[in-house]
Amino acid sequence: MLNAIVASALLGLTASAAPQNWGHGWGGSWNGGSPSYAAPTSTASATGAGQTPFTFPLSNGFPANVSAAALTSIERQAHGTLPNGPLPSAISDTSAATLSLIAFNEIFEVAFFTSLIQNITNNVAGYEIGSGAVRQVVLNALIAIQAQEELHALGANGILAAAGRPTISACKYVFPTSDFDGAIALAATFTDVVLGTLQDALNNFATDGDSEFVPLIGSVIGQEGEQDGFFRNLENKIPSQLPFLTRSAAPFAFSALNQLFVVPGSCSAADFKQIPLPILGALSVSPLASGVHKSQTLMFKVKEMGAALVASEISVVYINQQNLPVTEAVSGLQTASDGTTTFNAYFPFDEYLLEGLTIAAVVKGTGNFTSADAVASATLFGPGLIEID
Ligand SMILES: *[C@@H]1O[C@H](CO)[C@@H](O)[C@H](O)[C@H]1NC(C)=O
Ligand SMILES: *[C@@H]1O[C@H](CO)[C@@H](O)[C@H](O)[C@H]1NC(C)=O
Ligand SMILES: *[C@@H]1O[C@H](CO)[C@@H](O)[C@H](O)[C@H]1NC(C)=O
Repeated sequence: MLNAIVASALLGLTASAAPQNWGHGWGGSWNGGSPSYAAPTSTASATGAGQTPFTFPLSNGFPANVSAAALTSIERQAHGTLPNGPLPSAISDTSAATLSLIAFNEIFEVAFFTSLIQNITNNVAGYEIGSGAVRQVVLNALIAIQAQEELHALGANGILAAAGRPTISACKYVFPTSDFDGAIALAATFTDVVLGTLQDALNNFATDGDSEFVPLIGSVIGQEGEQDGFFRNLENKIPSQLPFLTRSAAPFAFSALNQLFVVPGSCSAADFKQIPLPILGALSVSPLASGVHKSQTLMFKVKEMGAALVASEISVVYINQQNLPVTEAVSGLQTASDGTTTFNAYFPFDEYLLEGLTIAAVVKGTGNFTSADAVASATLFGPGLIEID
């Protein structure tokens, strides 16, 4: 029943032979691009151009000024509470950076789901999803998710504050979506990236002396996975996309947030200081052939930074599931007079069964990386987000 409402989600991808953005927003992440490692203010966000940005605070004071009474009502809406155990008075620098990125992401998610609920509630064109029980099922889920994301953000900021670290504040955001199906597909994709990046967070906490956060983050990974299963079900996909979810790395998550959603210059400089990560150059990826369930050559597009790119000096790397990253050579490189560069690389779907989320990155050198972190460290442009069922 739900599926009938949103049956068109993503199906167009398999039917189209023309090059097009792959996915809803994140897959087609070309946005005019910023130079690699550029200051956040130079990151364009053309996908949301002309849109009135989403601004905080919410009417309940979130994120910075939530009263005890407001917190209680967020908890009721979230069907549960913030953890009530004692918080640590000190954490490592790695933990502080990790929690800061988590807060940065969760505040964005609150913005997204708040906007989505408003659009559905107000029957904004493109967000009319019928009436009665079905609409209510979707709204009930999203209303809980929105409050749960508020608690994720407040929880991360609460740990930072207890440990004497600066908390993360809100930026202004735009969303590259204009209908319900696109918004749900985008939610599934950014949740997939979160699910990959929280693996990195677990690894950090397990190895930096703050292993008390491992169970906490484990509980959040499961929670985000439940959300993802719901979004995927709305998309007519099986709820559990892969046996082992795709690994990501913090620079990919932080870059995607800034490339796609954050209004340039709208975040506090202090927040960026707490998140010592690069903002990579934007990468867009398009299928060249029709049909996604097969190996094929993909076209990539970047906006060059400084020196001209040379095909033999860069590679495309794909990260999928918990497998070793796959490196592919680049061919057909062409640079237009405006610095927009396109090139092709093989996508070995059949060889590696690249279902679910694949993170594509354009790296310096010829690759052969053994971890997602190593790929991120060598990345010039990325992430390109490819979603196959
Ligand atoms: C916080 O909320 C209180 C009461 O809701 C209000 O009086 C105060 O101005 C707010 N402070 C900030 C910094 O927004
Ligand atoms: C809500 O609707 C507005 C107007 O169409 C749109 O710009 C915005 O992206 C939508 N929000 C979401 C989360 O899709
Ligand atoms: C990648 O590294 C592995 C061992 O780490 C090696 O066996 C393999 O030949 C390398 N592949 C390439 C293309 O260099």
